[in-house]
Amino acid sequence: MTQNHNGRSNASMVEPRKVYDLAGLTSIVTGSSRGIGAGIALELARRGANVVVNYTSDKSKNAAESIVSTIKGCGSGARAIAIQANVVLPDDQKKVVEAALELSGDEAINILVHNAGNGDDCYLPEITEDFYSMQTDLNVKAPIFLTQKVIPHMPRGGRIILISSCSARMGVAQHTVYAASKASNESFARVWATELGQSKGITVNCVNPGPVATDGYFDSTQEFIDDLKPLVDSTPAEARVGEVRDIAPIVGFLASEESRWVTGSTVSACGGLLLF
Ligand SMILES: NC(=O)c1ccc[n+]([C@@H]2O[C@H](COP(=O)([O-])OP(=O)(O)OC[C@H]3O[C@@H](n4cnc5c(N)ncnc54)[C@H](OP(=O)(O)O)[C@@H]3O)[C@@H](O)[C@H]2O)c1
Repeated sequence: MTQNHNGRSNASMVEPRKVYDLAGLTSIVTGSSRGIGAGIALELARRGANVVVNYTSDKSKNAAESIVSTIKGCGSGARAIAIQANVVLPDDQKKVVEAALELSGDEAINILVHNAGNGDDCYLPEITEDFYSMQTDLNVKAPIFLTQKVIPHMPRGGRIILISSCSARMGVAQHTVYAASKASNESFARVWATELGQSKGITVNCVNPGPVATDGYFDSTQEFIDDLKPLVDSTPAEARVGEVRDIAPIVGFLASEESRWVTGSTVSACGGLLLF
């Protein structure tokens, strides 16, 4: 079992809970073959939720299947299926929704987590139209049109959670498109909380991680990671980047009945790196 930066075991990510507060519910977690999405998929499953584990590239098939196996064996009774789909594409969005309906057995999709995101870095002069489209298609367009397709199947008590980023508020160099597109996720939470609240009984919230130790983070340029180091070292909670296990339980809470009075909010999940 892997260890986090404190030398503590990450075993709790896959251990079953005593109370399966999401039992009988069905969830979609986009981009859940690895990183934060995989952690969220496991967190929802150990609370009892069925999970559609989504990924997009051929190379992640085994990783996604391995998350599915872990879910099936975690002891909570959760079911899971791995679906290769590019959530930017309308037909692939339909595939994800159909998989969730099949998994649920009762035609209900109760939890939708928009986790898949593109975080490539680029200075302003180098931004191309293609780069702009690649990031905004995944970070802005996909959540809108996937949500549109899920809503007709989401009963009252439904939960939508968007994984944004502290970068949306921080002014990090090279994040023109990333920060702006992630800021849209906070706006979605506020607007959709209003549109889907009283009328449909759905809550919508956003989670803003700071830097988290995933492939996505370590794929950044060394220059980017070096620039961020003084900031990471000054993180109030501890001088380190976040772990997946720091983020996933927040999503677990926001997916649960206990979060019923929280909607339209953005939770800062960054050890105090950003205090607003
Ligand atoms: N890591 C950080 O420091 C950090 C900080 C703040 C916010 N975030 C946000 O947290 C989320 C997860 O980040 P991460 O670092 O865990 O990412 P990651 O390690 O790069 O993993 C990305 C996941 O998204 C999937 N994905 C990518 N494009 C997709 C698409 N078009 N359709 C469906 N799935 C797609 C990938 O599938 P494949 O495996 O098939 O490629 C993979 O499962 C992102 O929204 C990111 O912006 C991350």
